[in-house]
Amino acid sequence: MDRLVIPAVFDMHQHLRQGADAVYFLKWVDRVCDVALVMPNTVVGHGLEGPITTAERLNQYRTLLERAVPDRKAHLVWTLYLTEETTPEMIRAAAAAGATGYKIYPRGETTNSDQGIREAVLRDLRHPFWRAIEEIQNVGGVVNHHGEIPGADVYDAERKYCSVIDAVCREYPKLRQVVEHVTTADMVQNIREWREEDRPIAGTITAHHLCLTLNDVVGQTHNFCKPVAKGTKDRDALISAATGWSDGFFFGSDAAPHHRTKKVSNEFQPACAGCWTTPVMVQLVAQVFDKLNCLDRLPRFLRTNAKTFYNIQGEPSRTLTLERKPWWNTYRSGYVPFWFDKLLDWRVAELDEIPNFHTGPNRPTMEV
Ligand code: NCD
Ligand code: ZN
Repeated sequence: MDRLVIPAVFDMHQHLRQGADAVYFLKWVDRVCDVALVMPNTVVGHGLEGPITTAERLNQYRTLLERAVPDRKAHLVWTLYLTEETTPEMIRAAAAAGATGYKIYPRGETTNSDQGIREAVLRDLRHPFWRAIEEIQNVGGVVNHHGEIPGADVYDAERKYCSVIDAVCREYPKLRQVVEHVTTADMVQNIREWREEDRPIAGTITAHHLCLTLNDVVGQTHNFCKPVAKGTKDRDALISAATGWSDGFFFGSDAAPHHRTKKVSNEFQPACAGCWTTPVMVQLVAQVFDKLNCLDRLPRFLRTNAKTFYNIQGEPSRTLTLERKPWWNTYRSGYVPFWFDKLLDWRVAELDEIPNFHTGPNRPTMEV
C-alpha cells in the first residue's frame, strides 16, 4: 500500500504551553488533529498564574487558547492539574467549567510537577486528597496518570507505579483512568489485565516511544523525555499494543516543546525533558504500522479507540492523505522538532507546504 486516506487524528496528550508559543504549537496541531487533550502543566506568565489547578484558571486558559487560533478545526479537551489541596468542590467546579481529564503528576517527576502529589499521598488512600478522586468518579471524569514513582531508578519508575493504579482500581472500580505515555512491557501487560477485570482503563502511547530505545536517548537531548524510552522488549510491547486489536490503547503524542536553548544541558542547567513531535507524529506512526503491514489499523489507534473511551461525538472534519515518499523533516524554528533531519518513509500530502505561521521568536533560522 503506497497511499492511504485516514480521518483527522485524536491526540489525547498535548502540551500547548502559553503566550505566542501556544499560537505556534496549536497551529501545528490544527494541521492534523480533530481533537487534542490539553495538558495543564502551564507556568506563571502570559495571563496565567501557574498550572491549571482551578476552574478559574481553566477558564482563563481556554479563553487564551481560543483567542489564539479562533479559526481552528481542532476541538480542545481540557484537563485539571491535581494538587494535594484539590477538594471535591474544586472537582465539581472544574467539571462545570468543562474539564474532562484530571491529571496526577507525581511531585518532582517531570516538567512543572512541583505542585503534584507526593508518593506517600499516592499510597495512602485515606489521605483527604482521595476524596477529590472519588468525586472525579462521581462526575464521570477521567484520571490521567503520569505513571512514574519519583526518585525511583529511571527504568523502574513506571513499573513501580503499577501498584498505585492497582490500589486505585480496587478502591474506585468505576473510575475511568488513563495511563499516559506507557513505556514498559509491564505496564502494557497490567493494562490488559485490568481491562480483563472490566476496569475502565486505557493507555496512551506516543510516536517517539514507538521509535526509540534508551540507546537512542543517551547523548541525544532531542530524544530525552519523561518517561524515558526503555529497552527493545518494552518498545516491541508498545508496538504490539498500538497495532493490535485491543481498544485499550490509543495515541497521545505528549508533544512537549522546549526552546532549543533549554534542551541543552550545561554547567548551569540540566536539559528539559520533552520531545516536540507534532510536525512528524502522524508520519512516524504510519511508518511503524507499515513495517508490520497493518496500516488498515491506523485509524483505530489514531482516532477511534480514543473517541470511544472518551465518548467524544462528531464525524471527522477532514481526512489526511498519507503517501509513501521519502522525505527529511527540516522545519526549523526556535523549537527543534523530533526526528529533525532524519529520513521518514511517509508524508502527509496536505502538509506539503511549509506552514507560513513562523512569527516572532519562532521564525525559521539557519543558525546551528
Ligand atoms: C512534559 C513537559 O515538558 O511538559 N515533558 C515530558 O518529558 N514529557 C511533561 C510530561 O508530560 O511529563
Ligand atoms: Zn506530557
